[in-house]
Amino acid sequence: MRVRVAASLAALASLALLSAAPAAPVAAAGSGSSAAGDTGLRAAARPTGVRIGTAVDMTALADDATYRAAVAREFSTVTPENVMKWEAVEPERGVYDWAAADRLVDFARANHQTVRGHTLVWHSQNPAWLREDAFTPAELRAILRKHIIDEVSHFKGRIWHWDVVNEVFNEDGTPRDTIWLRNLGPGYIADAFRWAHQADPQAKLFVNDYNNEGINPKSDAYYALVRQLKAEGVPVDGYGIQGHLAVQYGVPGDILANLRRFEALGLQTAFTEVDVRMLMPADPVKVQAQAQGFTAMLQACLLSRRCVSYTLWGFTDRYSWVPGVFPAEGSATPMDENFAPKPAYYALRDTFTLAGR
Ligand code: XIL
Repeated sequence: MRVRVAASLAALASLALLSAAPAAPVAAAGSGSSAAGDTGLRAAARPTGVRIGTAVDMTALADDATYRAAVAREFSTVTPENVMKWEAVEPERGVYDWAAADRLVDFARANHQTVRGHTLVWHSQNPAWLREDAFTPAELRAILRKHIIDEVSHFKGRIWHWDVVNEVFNEDGTPRDTIWLRNLGPGYIADAFRWAHQADPQAKLFVNDYNNEGINPKSDAYYALVRQLKAEGVPVDGYGIQGHLAVQYGVPGDILANLRRFEALGLQTAFTEVDVRMLMPADPVKVQAQAQGFTAMLQACLLSRRCVSYTLWGFTDRYSWVPGVFPAEGSATPMDENFAPKPAYYALRDTFTLAGR
């Protein structure tokens, strides 16, 4: 089906906007009723073969029944927003706490969803005990190796994709200056992939970053890295595009070409953290631009051959990370604080529906 979507997608943006008016069916679907299940994103995506996902906030999943029902109903893959990060799983050195992450993996299994593991190697949200000045480079290498092997082993067989390395390049394509680069040198990336593969040979292993949607110095750096890793036989399987856009910066124009060059290297691709924020307050033009941002990335995914998933970084403004991190910005997800769908929600659903015909 995916080879035939090109023609239909040409007329898509206008169709999606036209169909944005009705707000009733999904807004009322907090109960998780089967009627809603027939019309949600998950059902629309199924015939395309591309999984639709969301980041999951574990506090909301525990406390908010409307949220919980929507995660089950609307999505076929889930990503822990925070609970698989290093500071969450090993807050004290040598003392693991897998409880919250296990709850998500159990929830996903109960709802026939896959899990994107996020993330093994990063410069952010590391535990306080992981102080660079407290360890030698050799110790840091052993610590990183143990972290990767222990975490991937704990979830072995239950993780679809791992974001093995997250945000390892700067915008200009130079390697990001992190505790790992400084102490282990650039070879830490290949090591991380080898260790993860050793611990779970079935999991698909991804690089992941933001501002890498189109062709630019950062995505060029990933292209060179991945080509090199492949040439060396390093087990890298996927290129992850976070997809954190903002309407005031516009949408990169060459997303599809970027996906295709990575896929030509033999990689899968995935949109891993999509949201489209705006300067507040929202207005109709921003809301329309937002829908176009979401659909531009989904169209690229559906038009390429090996894009396997499209994950939102939260689906409701009630729990979005955006207002807490970007001053004066918000409204970044396809549903408002009361779970009412915005034009972006219908645009995504209609895009999947067209592609699945
Ligand atoms: C964010 C979470 O959404 C927040 O709750 C947390 O406070 C900080 O991290 N890129 C990533 C994600 O890879 O892990 C980040 O998630 C958002 C940016």
